[in-house]
Amino acid sequence: MKKELKVSAIKNGTVIDHIRPGKALEVVRLLNLENYEDSVTVAMSVRSSLHKTKDIVKIENRELSEDEVNEIALIAPESTINIIKDYEVVEKRKIELPDVIKGILTCMNPNCISRKEGSSKFIVEKREPVVLRCYYCERLMEEGEILKRLRI
Ligand code: CTP
Ligand code: ZN
Repeated sequence: MKKELKVSAIKNGTVIDHIRPGKALEVVRLLNLENYEDSVTVAMSVRSSLHKTKDIVKIENRELSEDEVNEIALIAPESTINIIKDYEVVEKRKIELPDVIKGILTCMNPNCISRKEGSSKFIVEKREPVVLRCYYCERLMEEGEILKRLRI
């Protein structure tokens, strides 16, 4: 007997692949997939190469917005977004955390000018784990706070 059950392919939708192990549930929460009406498959700690594992999230019949992709970049950089149409991968995109992040998050400093202007800008200070620095007031934002602000 073959002691392996492969996660099945999807017909149409999005596969977020190569998610850093342990981050799949954060991606699920970020995209609010608990309340999604179609199928969602989550695979955790799947072997991806001899010494590496990964998480995968497959969402049937859904495409991601640019904002959602940028939010995923904050919690699971290095993952890959695959668009599936009629069982074929028609688009593959590696998600990179950019050097500068505009919008998405609000600065934690209540007196920050960006709060009055309503437009934020952060410099990526550190990548693993992520630390952002507000471009306007220099206030640092760490991963825990980023997750909270993304409502994860
Ligand atoms: N996939 C899927 N349903 C399909 C096609 C692909 O769920 N109809 C999934 C695959 O299981 C894989 C991801 O989408 O997790 C990317 O598919 P593919 O590009 O075929 O795999 P790889 O070549 O292994 O991708 P990579 O090079 O990015 O590792
Ligand atoms: Zn600020």
